[in-house]
Amino acid sequence: MSTISLKNQRVVIIGGSSGIGLATAKQAVAQGAAVIIAGRSQDKLAKAQQFLGLESTETHSLDNQNEEELKSFFEKIGNFDHLFTPGASYVRGPITSSLEIAHSCFNAKFWPQYNAVKYAIPYINPKGSIVLMSGAFGQRPLADGASYAACNGAIESLGKALAVELAPIRVNVISPGTIHTNFNWVGAEQETRDKSYDEYTNMNILGRVGHADEAAHTTIYLMTNNYTTGSTLFPDGGYILR
Ligand SMILES: NC(=O)c1ccc[n+]([C@@H]2O[C@H](COP(=O)([O-])OP(=O)(O)OC[C@H]3O[C@@H](n4cnc5c(N)ncnc54)[C@H](OP(=O)(O)O)[C@@H]3O)[C@@H](O)[C@H]2O)c1
Repeated sequence: MSTISLKNQRVVIIGGSSGIGLATAKQAVAQGAAVIIAGRSQDKLAKAQQFLGLESTETHSLDNQNEEELKSFFEKIGNFDHLFTPGASYVRGPITSSLEIAHSCFNAKFWPQYNAVKYAIPYINPKGSIVLMSGAFGQRPLADGASYAACNGAIESLGKALAVELAPIRVNVISPGTIHTNFNWVGAEQETRDKSYDEYTNMNILGRVGHADEAAHTTIYLMTNNYTTGSTLFPDGGYILR
């Protein structure tokens, strides 16, 4: 059987303390993996560890925008099998936005993933894999996020380039549509949140917002299918086709 199981594999998830990263950690643990999750908040990491199980979960506090922290994170954790890098926090805005907003997607989502791969290479099993996080907005932009769309496009190209450069390590990209998570919603009114999700519901073919475990399932597929590399998959309910 050429599909691999994650049993006894070490899976590193930067941004594994909530949302899609946490859901992926849960599915990896269910397959028998040990997970190493990283994020900025110790509190979120501790809650995630309780949720995933103490024996199968290692936690590390890390700000992935800090290159030195990334470098010493990989030195500390040592050899492992799979890397997933969804950790990001940014805002998007139209082309007339401030420089700070315009740069925030590349600073928070592109460079941290690029640098994570750079410092992870000495420690990744050659039979292992890397899954980068993009977003379907890159393929079907709306009118308020030029740099965010460009950032996702750049991540999808980065995935292809790294698949060529790092083979036999497999490198793939997940590019979800709108998924129920707390991303950019902390402190927001439920009504505002519901209204926004309603708008996205009408923008895809399946007529609903996705769930974190559906995006996680895509990531687990990319980690475990031995013949998939350089691909971008879209768990988006058909968003890019509407
Ligand atoms: N949800 C969606 O609809 C959707 C759609 C398309 C793409 N995505 C992409 O999916 C990724 C994650 O989204 P999510 O929805 O799962 O969000 P989430 O629930 O907010 O999870 C984000 C995770 O990343 C960590 N993180 C944030 N900033 C970090 C930093 N500077 N250094 C290290 N870790 C950091 C967070 O922990 P701390 O806050 O403690 O650091 C948390 O564990 C983002 O890249 C987003 O663009 C999401």
